[in-house]
Amino acid sequence: MKLSSANINVMVKACRKASKILIRDFGEIENLQTSLKGPGDFVTISDKKVEKILIEELQKARPDYSILSEEIGKITNDESFKWIIDPIDGTANFLHGIPHFAISIGLEHNEEIICGIIYDPIKDEMFIAEKGKGSYLNNQRIRVSSRSKLENCIIFTGGPKHKSKDRDLAIEEYKKFSLETFIPIRKMGSAALDLAYVAAGRCDGFWQRNLHYWDIAAGIILIREAGGFVTDFHGENRYLENKTILATNSRINKEMIEVLR
Ligand code: IPD
Ligand code: CA
Ligand code: CA
Repeated sequence: MKLSSANINVMVKACRKASKILIRDFGEIENLQTSLKGPGDFVTISDKKVEKILIEELQKARPDYSILSEEIGKITNDESFKWIIDPIDGTANFLHGIPHFAISIGLEHNEEIICGIIYDPIKDEMFIAEKGKGSYLNNQRIRVSSRSKLENCIIFTGGPKHKSKDRDLAIEEYKKFSLETFIPIRKMGSAALDLAYVAAGRCDGFWQRNLHYWDIAAGIILIREAGGFVTDFHGENRYLENKTILATNSRINKEMIEVLR
């Protein structure tokens, strides 16, 4: 089975084109690690180049759609359709030469996400979902895991990066979670891939504070179409307003909420 609606084809084409630059630039990073200046500026330029290609390709195919993208912000057009773009999710990994980052694009229609793509160019893993049609990894259907006991689970989390009240809260949550569950918690460094991995059943849950819409837009539909749950830390749908996200398989959601509360 393959997802092949017109919008999915547009997203796939844009990702494939932009990923060529991303792969080539990632190859340069190793050399830059040892240079005095380091790869910092180079990565910022890569991020912008990738974003430019994605936007050009998406606009060529859908000139009327609006856009929200991490680096350039908003392009307002027909507000009923909106692309939500993170050109590189996992920038810190990219910068350090760690091959774990992705392009993430979600498509919103009347404020509901209807398609999502998360593409890991190094592993050539393309996670795609479309409303009502399921989630796929390289054209194979994926589903969330069926583990029901937290003690058998692997859970992902991440950030926040900067010193803030939210970071203090995140540290407290991490401690509480470790002490109460004593299960493996991983910080992989790409929220988009964290969500894609929950959708694919590779891990069982993910929680994080302070993410932006572009970090999670594509991941949300991937999880839902794979049979999982996406809520805030209270089990409600207000993850954007409350800036907390919890994504799980369908069995451990309640238990995770209890621990996080
Ligand atoms: C970051 C990644 C990371 C998460 C940070 C995000 P970026 O996005 O998703 O996993 O912990 O909160 O900002 O900066 O690499 O696009
Ligand atoms: Ca991001
Ligand atoms: Ca980014």
